[in-house]
Amino acid sequence: MVVATTNAPGRSSRDSESGAGWLDCSGPGVWCDDVPDGTRSLSWLRPSVLWQSRNDVVATTLADPTPAARARWVELARQRAGEGTAVADFVIAGPAGDSVSMLLVGDPGEGDNAQYAVAHELAEQSKSADFAVICSDVIYPAGDQADYGRKFHHPYRNVGVPIYALPGNHDWYEGLHAFMHYFCKLDDPGYVPRFGRGPAAWLASRLWRKPQQDSGTAGGADGVTVAERPPPDPVQPAPYFAIDAGPARYVGIDTGINGEVDAAQYEWLQRVSLQCPERPKILLTGKPIYVDGTYRPGRVIGSRQTVDQVVTDPRANFVMAIGGDIHNYQRYPVKLADERTIQYVVSGGGGAYMHATHVIPPVYINGVTESDFRCYPLRRDSLARFSQIVDRRLFGGLLRTSIEPQSAARYYADRGIVSRVDRELADRLSLGVRLKAALVRRIPAGRLFHRFGSEAFAFDSPPFFKNFLRVDLERTSATVTCFGVTGCAGTEHTPSVEDRFTITW
Ligand SMILES: [Fe+2]
Repeated sequence: MVVATTNAPGRSSRDSESGAGWLDCSGPGVWCDDVPDGTRSLSWLRPSVLWQSRNDVVATTLADPTPAARARWVELARQRAGEGTAVADFVIAGPAGDSVSMLLVGDPGEGDNAQYAVAHELAEQSKSADFAVICSDVIYPAGDQADYGRKFHHPYRNVGVPIYALPGNHDWYEGLHAFMHYFCKLDDPGYVPRFGRGPAAWLASRLWRKPQQDSGTAGGADGVTVAERPPPDPVQPAPYFAIDAGPARYVGIDTGINGEVDAAQYEWLQRVSLQCPERPKILLTGKPIYVDGTYRPGRVIGSRQTVDQVVTDPRANFVMAIGGDIHNYQRYPVKLADERTIQYVVSGGGGAYMHATHVIPPVYINGVTESDFRCYPLRRDSLARFSQIVDRRLFGGLLRTSIEPQSAARYYADRGIVSRVDRELADRLSLGVRLKAALVRRIPAGRLFHRFGSEAFAFDSPPFFKNFLRVDLERTSATVTCFGVTGCAGTEHTPSVEDRFTITW
């Protein structure tokens, strides 16, 4: 297997400030016309939003009903499919032929400006693609049925290909009922979540937020009524599934709220991964395996095995693993002991608030160094954008804590991370800029309700630094393109290419 990385052609954040959206961004693009009247940005500082998301805290600290609920959904799916059939193994016979193109968008569903900007580009790309996959967190904050109109059906109404999806933790906050209703055509309204025994389980059952009733309109309680997209055809068999597409097989897993895979799903993952060894495999997951310079192999409940053990098994023939959950783009080409290289990609910048990349330390993990690593936004752009938001939110713009991109580039160059050409670096940094950078970098990015720092300083105006992927399969290769979306006027038909690489087999 050979991996070739080509320099992103044309406009991108690696080429110029204009490519990043810092210059010439006179205002939002035509996607603005798609945003329904009355749309409010989803604010993670709003107490009601945090309260709606409380099942995350319940599941991670008291008792997690997700594995039992998933077992119930899978049981219903198998009953429908009939035992012993290919469908019962949750394998979709996707497009045949040598050339198949897939679009992947991660973590989109906040229903505000950034999602609509990405959706516009996605619709354009769909004219020459075969299907699309949402890789985790279809609907924020809690996967509610009433939010599907404004956050799924309406933004993607012009995406002219079937859309499949893998659930993220936010979709599980309501037991996955709305997700299963739309993508899998399965309903189980009488299901009662199971928390186990003991005081913690009792408390969890009391605090657990129950699925919300559908208001009866696709737009839900906010009064926006839109036509539903038709469900994917063939319908998605289960929350985890595989798609045979041209020469390759996509294998999608469901990592629930806690990022774990249950034993039954793991057995399925092994089985479908070892089938058809001649087909290269691509893992799709709600939890990336390499992210933020760390290795998270993927826990299996009640076992020491990991998801990555399957991915690296030479008999399975995986060439790439793509994960959502973290709202930016990252790529780690990991060379294994047997000389194969697997591309580990994070692609969660599909619409929701941006996770900072400026907190990622210089990368050195399992043979991947800073020179191999790619991310979008670049750390300099992430630092510069967050500094603007911090300035605005904390100080009302009075303290002028925002950092110019050139200064941010110098800040990282001084730390051995050169992200741009030298001519765009500031000469030297003042003490004030260094202090500002240190302040912004220390805003907590750990997990409280979520990753608090990134959510608290979410923004919903261009430049967005959003992204989605396009994977073009050919008989002996896959070309992967990371498109950047700034949302700036005039860029709608020329999305920036932030990364592109080709895997051959
Ligand atoms: Fe997410």
